[in-house]
Amino acid sequence: MTHIAVLGSTNMDLVAFVAKAPQRGETVTGREFRTVPGGKGANQAIAAARAGATVSMIGAVGNDAFGTRLRETLEHSGVDTDFLRTVEGPSGTAHIVVDDEGGNSIVVVPGANGTVDHLSPGDEGLIASADTLLLQLEIPPAAVVAGAEAARRHGVRTVLTPSPIQPLPPGLLAATDLLVPNQYEAITLTGRTDPREAAAALLELVPRAVVTLGATGCLYVARDAAEPLVVPAPRVEAVDTTGAGDTFTGALAVALAEEKPVREALSWAAAAASLSVERAGASASMPYRPEIDARFTS
Ligand code: ATP
Ligand code: RIB
Repeated sequence: MTHIAVLGSTNMDLVAFVAKAPQRGETVTGREFRTVPGGKGANQAIAAARAGATVSMIGAVGNDAFGTRLRETLEHSGVDTDFLRTVEGPSGTAHIVVDDEGGNSIVVVPGANGTVDHLSPGDEGLIASADTLLLQLEIPPAAVVAGAEAARRHGVRTVLTPSPIQPLPPGLLAATDLLVPNQYEAITLTGRTDPREAAAALLELVPRAVVTLGATGCLYVARDAAEPLVVPAPRVEAVDTTGAGDTFTGALAVALAEEKPVREALSWAAAAASLSVERAGASASMPYRPEIDARFTS
């Protein structure tokens, strides 16, 4: 079985479902409130585990009730949490508004994630034992760089989700094998508004990139590929897109580690992500491998 390590965030998502998100200064009445385990790191870990990999999570939760539930949720999906520290103080939280079109806006308060600013003893050994390391930007950049460089030293493939978008340190780019921005992030990183041009420009930064394009699908480019690959997303009724990108990336990492051909890996990941948008919540919506296989072949 492939082994994926994730170095990243865990958040409790505090989700209000409303018809239409409020403007500044406006108050609206919501329909429903849910607490759903999330955080880009934990989401990618759960997505990869449910997609069939052995997964280890490196990060931190707080010593509060959210921290306990976040750890339990990871473990229930089969994620190894031996390297998920419990620290003094609150867990990370994400304050999310989901509207009737399934779109969202999010404020993240890092909490315990802010303490993950370096690799702790044992982290490098764990990274070295993995096939792939998944990284995002919801923990301090110093740890992301250290993780990517540790992976590089040990010949471990790195996949970076540049979210929340921020300037990427040159050392991080140099140690990234595959970058997976959404359209907004790709535009911000390259200054190009056309997705194809933005994707091509990303190859000046990293050897391979996938630009995700929401309901449209994704665009894959590689320095060693003659042409970009355009892969459509299955057409579905979106209920909540929170975590769609994380589901896509977690599943893609598994498929690539299993050495599926790239186009098949992208379609399989798109099948996984399409299942996640049909259901509410980030981690709660993530599909298990048999569901992904059924959607992929249908
Ligand atoms: P999010 O922040 O909502 O988790 P994202 O902005 O990181 O997502 P997107 O490009 O919106 O990333 O979506 C990632 C992938 O999820 C897409 O490439 C697509 O495969 C799938 N996806 C997203 N929205 C939909 C949708 N409405 N219908 C089908 N698939 C979708
Ligand atoms: O990518 C989705 C995630 O972003 C949510 O689960 C939330 O925690 C925010 O970090």
